[in-house]
Amino acid sequence: MSGGACNILFVGAGAIGCFYASRLHDPASKVYVSLVCRSNYPTIAKSGVSLRTRSFGDYHFSPHEVYSSILAAAESPKAPANGWDYVVVTTKALPEVTDDSKDIEPLVRKSADGKTCIVLIQNGVGVEEAHRSRFPANPIVSAVTIASVEQIEHGLIKQNKWTRISMGPYSDGLGGRTHESVELVRRGTENVEHLVELLTRIGKLRDAEAYDEIKLQQVRWHKICINAAMNPSAVLSGGVGNADMVMDPELREHLKGVMDEIFRAAPAILGREFPESLAKPELILKSTERNKGGKPSMLLDWEAGRPMELEVILGNPLKVARRHNVEMARMQSLYALLKMAQRQRAQNSHKQKTSKI
Ligand SMILES: NC(=O)c1ccc[n+]([C@@H]2O[C@H](COP(=O)([O-])OP(=O)(O)OC[C@H]3O[C@@H](n4cnc5c(N)ncnc54)[C@H](OP(=O)(O)O)[C@@H]3O)[C@@H](O)[C@H]2O)c1
Repeated sequence: MSGGACNILFVGAGAIGCFYASRLHDPASKVYVSLVCRSNYPTIAKSGVSLRTRSFGDYHFSPHEVYSSILAAAESPKAPANGWDYVVVTTKALPEVTDDSKDIEPLVRKSADGKTCIVLIQNGVGVEEAHRSRFPANPIVSAVTIASVEQIEHGLIKQNKWTRISMGPYSDGLGGRTHESVELVRRGTENVEHLVELLTRIGKLRDAEAYDEIKLQQVRWHKICINAAMNPSAVLSGGVGNADMVMDPELREHLKGVMDEIFRAAPAILGREFPESLAKPELILKSTERNKGGKPSMLLDWEAGRPMELEVILGNPLKVARRHNVEMARMQSLYALLKMAQRQRAQNSHKQKTSKI
């Protein structure tokens, strides 16, 4: 922190980015939160962000600075002279489309002493690996949220329910086994505790939670239990929502099969059983029965023709499992089918475009 001030930059001013950025910004406490926008830059630069939230009512967020791109932030004379304390990545995790770690390099390298902590609030497994290899000496905080938030229009954010965010340090994914990674765990843990304190005190979140490295990875694997079972199946079943899927006996058996597979794989990979506090597949299915009208984000992305977070939700877990000689047959089928469906869709849309020319 320079002069007691804390400078935080969010890269990706979408639903999750704007929501958590708005819960941290507090000039009275010298916490200055800025945003890197993309398509919504003109609106947010002019009018800031409006939020309609179930947890905190309606309010307005005026970021400290708003930038049109990562490069604009890195080169701005208004950027903190010794770099940001935190660079928080809240883009969709699409490693096959873009390497976030390469993109944020000009921001992270701005601090000469390697103080910048990279915070990843993204779904999936293995999102930290590219950042760890590009920035071997920077602390990384890995974060999982279950909040349900959407950007209804540029600069207008709706939080539908939940606020929980779980955070842990990331060294090598397995808790720091070398001298260097023990130091990364120490610094990352300090950052986790600081962010949880800010989110609790400034953001009034009651469920910002600090974990150790392995426990946080368990939370990631547990979350993909839901995402890897529900999201691809919603697309492959032709657009069926979560509640309808779990009410169909064959689909329910399939969903439970995927979740059971992850429940068996994660302890073998992480060397620790899932804690009792994390819901078991049967309970997840039961509570999904009430989630009527709920469509997984992957289905919304598929329907809108956008790339899906396929690699981090299916591809990476499979890769990691293979490294540990763990087989995940159901996940492999989902991955193979959906990857090919995505490729076909891209080819068809390319053909349609070229036939119009
Ligand atoms: N939304 C939820 O309820 C929720 C819940 C739990 C977890 N998550 C996870 O949180 C992550 C973020 O999701 P989200 O729903 O917030 O996605 P989102 O609303 O699509 O926001 C992502 C934002 O990142 C921007 N962006 C992408 N690349 C950028 C770049 N190079 N420079 C600047 N901005 C860039 C996008 O800009 P454009 O608009 O121009 O593309 C968009 O505004 C995902 O991993 C998601 O799975 C989301």
